[in-house]
Amino acid sequence: MEKEFEILDEEFNSSIESTGNIVELENIRTLFLGKKGKLTSIMKQLKELSNEQRAEIGKNINRLKTVFQQRIESRKEVLKKKEFEEKMNEEWIDITIDPFSRDFGSLHPITTVQKRLEDIFVAMGFRVLDGPHIETEFYNFEALNIPSHHPARDMQDTFYFEDGHLLRTHTSPIQIRGMETIKPPFRIVGPGKVFRCERTDASHDSCFHQFEGMMVDRDISVAHLIYFMKTMLGEIFESEVEVRLRPGYFPFVEPGFELDMLCLLCKGNGCKFCKQVGWIELMGCGMVHPNVLKAGNIDASEYSGFAFGLGIDRLAMLKYDITDIRPLHGGNLNFVRQFSIT
Ligand code: PHE
Repeated sequence: MEKEFEILDEEFNSSIESTGNIVELENIRTLFLGKKGKLTSIMKQLKELSNEQRAEIGKNINRLKTVFQQRIESRKEVLKKKEFEEKMNEEWIDITIDPFSRDFGSLHPITTVQKRLEDIFVAMGFRVLDGPHIETEFYNFEALNIPSHHPARDMQDTFYFEDGHLLRTHTSPIQIRGMETIKPPFRIVGPGKVFRCERTDASHDSCFHQFEGMMVDRDISVAHLIYFMKTMLGEIFESEVEVRLRPGYFPFVEPGFELDMLCLLCKGNGCKFCKQVGWIELMGCGMVHPNVLKAGNIDASEYSGFAFGLGIDRLAMLKYDITDIRPLHGGNLNFVRQFSIT
């Protein structure tokens, strides 16, 4: 019997040492001290022994029982501590980190200007429309009064797909798509990326951003066009802006104009900013050509409208005094962060 107790004691000790958590420990408790446990089964053998032997062994069993229970309790303490420490290591929060020092990122200057433009026009009753970057010749040229033989196509060379699709050269196709779904009178704007097969330099890139606008109603005149353009520029540059129109040729407007803004720095006297011209060339615009209204199923004898298209990149460059378009499209965060608005 002595030997059996020794073996049991050893077995118990090594089982207990190998437990990794409290659930395992409880299983060991049942295995040794439970109703069908190892110690209990020894007790059952007592019946066959003499009275003295039974008393002697019974004492040993009770002693073992107490020792086992104590060992289980102390192992439990060790495991509890271990589990707590593991949890602390997994779930710790460093409360000494300054929550405001995190780098949250910011909007790109082109996005900032685009969003500002959208807000300005939405406030004046315009709807913001979208259009695909990959267009058909119909939407990009034909419906805009630029048939395939027309020299205006040369000025807007682009990238063609083998199936005849192309990367849109301007946001003007949004005018056509707008007229397909919205009946006059309407006011729409359409921002987005445009593409041209262009040599890259400080002021040109093969991908840039435009902001298109179109208003169609009864009796729309150049006066309306000037009003909306002045309002938009005044909001963007946060000051009173003077504009002038020069004749400009775009097949989808008649008359067509180039719109210039009086240089905000020199007020027309000529400076480095406006390249000594006194005026800053900003965008193309004009009265919507009757052929374009016709392409949009609008009766040109009843309705008229104006349209404009401006470069968002160029506007952002003027606003933030950026002299080269290329870093605007690069991935250098140090560059764009200079213009972050928080
Ligand atoms: N789509 C023209 C361009 O990209 C700009 C424009 C738009 C001119 C609308 C007149 C009216 O050059």
